Amino acid sequence: MYDKSLPDVTFHTRVRDDSIGGSNPFRWEDKTTADFFAGKRVVLFSLPGAFTPTCSTYQLPDFEKLYPEFKAEGIDAIYCIAVNDTFVMNAWKKAQGIEHVEVIPDGSGEFTRKMGMLVCKDNLGFGMRSWRYAAIVNDGKVEQWFVEEGYSDNCETDPYGVSSPQNILEKLRAANNTKAA
Ligand code: BEZ
Repeated sequence: MYDKSLPDVTFHTRVRDDSIGGSNPFRWEDKTTADFFAGKRVVLFSLPGAFTPTCSTYQLPDFEKLYPEFKAEGIDAIYCIAVNDTFVMNAWKKAQGIEHVEVIPDGSGEFTRKMGMLVCKDNLGFGMRSWRYAAIVNDGKVEQWFVEEGYSDNCETDPYGVSSPQNILEKLRAANNTKAA
């Protein structure tokens, strides 16, 4: 979990391509870890599932609202990843009216497993999902982790605090102010 390099995986995404025409102008596009992370300083946050309450009411919309403030602190992009397929992730992004946060579908859970963050959520009928965490990632290397407490299978609670955008922004600001002083 504390290896600083992100695992190299391929994400299978659906992207809009208006040249296709018709009512569903999307095509497959494979993107690697490097495609998302190389040469950028980003915030990655990972959550148990698209459309779930805390994720939809707080975490995703709050990252979206605070995007300009993250940019002002030197963050190039904000990525939301979950063990859901690209159709689900794209539908969730659309339903939430998200423009700035990019979604990454880890449908098979390969990335999450290799990050050491895959947990069983059979108690909710979810199967294998991501523990809730976030990280500041610079050029594919984790600079700082924000892992919710209590990592475990079939957890009865859903801790949410350290991986909130408010907490991460506060830590980024403190680090940037220290550097500037
Ligand atoms: C939530 O975001 O509220 C949530 C996440 C996973 C399971 C149940 C709820």
